[in-house]
Amino acid sequence: MASERSALFIFFGGTGDLAYRKLYPSLFNLYQKGTLREKFAVVGTARDKLTDEKFRERVQKSIGSDSKEAEKFISHFYYEAHDVTDKAHYSVLKERAVELDKKYKLQGNQIFYLSMAPNFFGTVAGYLRSEGLVNDKGFSRLVIEKPFGRDYDSAKALNEALAQSFDEEQIFRIDHYLGKEMIQNIEALRFGNTIIESLWNNRYIDNIQVTLSEKLGVEERASYYDKSGALRDMVQNHIMQIVSLLAMEQPVAFTDSDIRAEKVKALRSLRVYNVAEAATNFVRGQYDAGGKINPYREEDNVPADSNTETFVAGKLMFDNYRWSGTPFYIRTGKVLADKFTRVDVVFKKPLVDIFSFPGSSTSKPLDTNVLTLYIEPKAGFALKINAKNNDQGFQTAPVTMEYFVDPEDSKKTPEPYERLLHDALKGDGTNFSSWQEVSYAWKFVDQIRKVWDLQQPNFPNYTPGSMGPAAADELIERDHRQWVYRLNK
Ligand code: BG6
Repeated sequence: MASERSALFIFFGGTGDLAYRKLYPSLFNLYQKGTLREKFAVVGTARDKLTDEKFRERVQKSIGSDSKEAEKFISHFYYEAHDVTDKAHYSVLKERAVELDKKYKLQGNQIFYLSMAPNFFGTVAGYLRSEGLVNDKGFSRLVIEKPFGRDYDSAKALNEALAQSFDEEQIFRIDHYLGKEMIQNIEALRFGNTIIESLWNNRYIDNIQVTLSEKLGVEERASYYDKSGALRDMVQNHIMQIVSLLAMEQPVAFTDSDIRAEKVKALRSLRVYNVAEAATNFVRGQYDAGGKINPYREEDNVPADSNTETFVAGKLMFDNYRWSGTPFYIRTGKVLADKFTRVDVVFKKPLVDIFSFPGSSTSKPLDTNVLTLYIEPKAGFALKINAKNNDQGFQTAPVTMEYFVDPEDSKKTPEPYERLLHDALKGDGTNFSSWQEVSYAWKFVDQIRKVWDLQQPNFPNYTPGSMGPAAADELIERDHRQWVYRLNK
């Protein structure tokens, strides 16, 4: 059994989709594992008027169990109808918090979880402080869902608003990709293996490719997505986080402050493009009709003339000793060929290929070594290396060494939200985005957005089931390279 933690959770957006699908089931997992036992309570808040009983019924549905254990777990849940802009409601919430703290011996520990319209993040944080919900008896932590701003200026304004009420160490900005097992494995692979880390630089690596491919479209989220687009929805957060883990130097120790310091350092050396560079190094796409899929512009809640991108590909350059000259290519999009996330690390070929020397017995050039990190849905890694083929003559051929996490073991792997809630309970910020990381990521992304906002795109420009527009292939082919993952044409 894990060691028990005590806290009061207050969920803003307590009747929302995320709470229902991810947060309550994750808390239940923590309960079953013993991290939460007797000393915890949950208050759900939202505008809806619900009794504790009705709220508990929802929670029960969300965890999908009516066992005795589930019943006991659910008895820790309470509900408060709450208008986040109404100061008076915070006093009611405070009374509940004080009462539950006493009842469950919570020692003043509190986690405020904001999973609601982002324009209210600052308001809620301000009232939590001014109305005395934040106390100094135990810990008071603020967990915030994305999006953290829609550009650098709005993110900065939000951060300043939060900073009036909470210190940076109390703020946990969620990026659920950081809760994924194989994303966390990037650090284990790099810093746990001499054979990997000693080659992890521009001397041996030709390029790195990060692909976050989605098969689904925007579903019911179009009204949010159309104002965001793939650049803000996936690149500014998830992709920039993955890239910074791949690019960072070795942290002094495996602690949140050391890791964050290195990620920030890496992001600071990311080249921020000028207008011309942004225009050549990034491409965007929007999906057309294909098979049973409607064009993006015909999705519910999408304007017929929408210029929102549902696909992005780009080339990133770090101007530092380790990476100078080695590009990181990234891409992500909706309704692509398949749902998967992977990182392909393409190594340089040997400087001299003795096997294809004039007059040698073989004419086939050596293949490149590629280390692939499979993030999802399958988890594992593969290394493609050259070996002799099995024949009489002397011919090299690539072979692949692979390791995949056993699907049975994968089932035991905690969901990202379970992991992140656990980290928030422990006060471990390693897998959350710090303000500095967020701010550098916005500064980079804002330049791309700026250029795109000035130009009229030629949308729609890719077919569902493809890997995006032709321009995404041209972007990398221009550099005499290819995407490692590509569809057979
Ligand atoms: C979210 C985006 O952050 O990540 C969604 O808002 C996207 O648009 C999702 O679908 C992808 O997450 P995952 O874990 O399914 O790869």
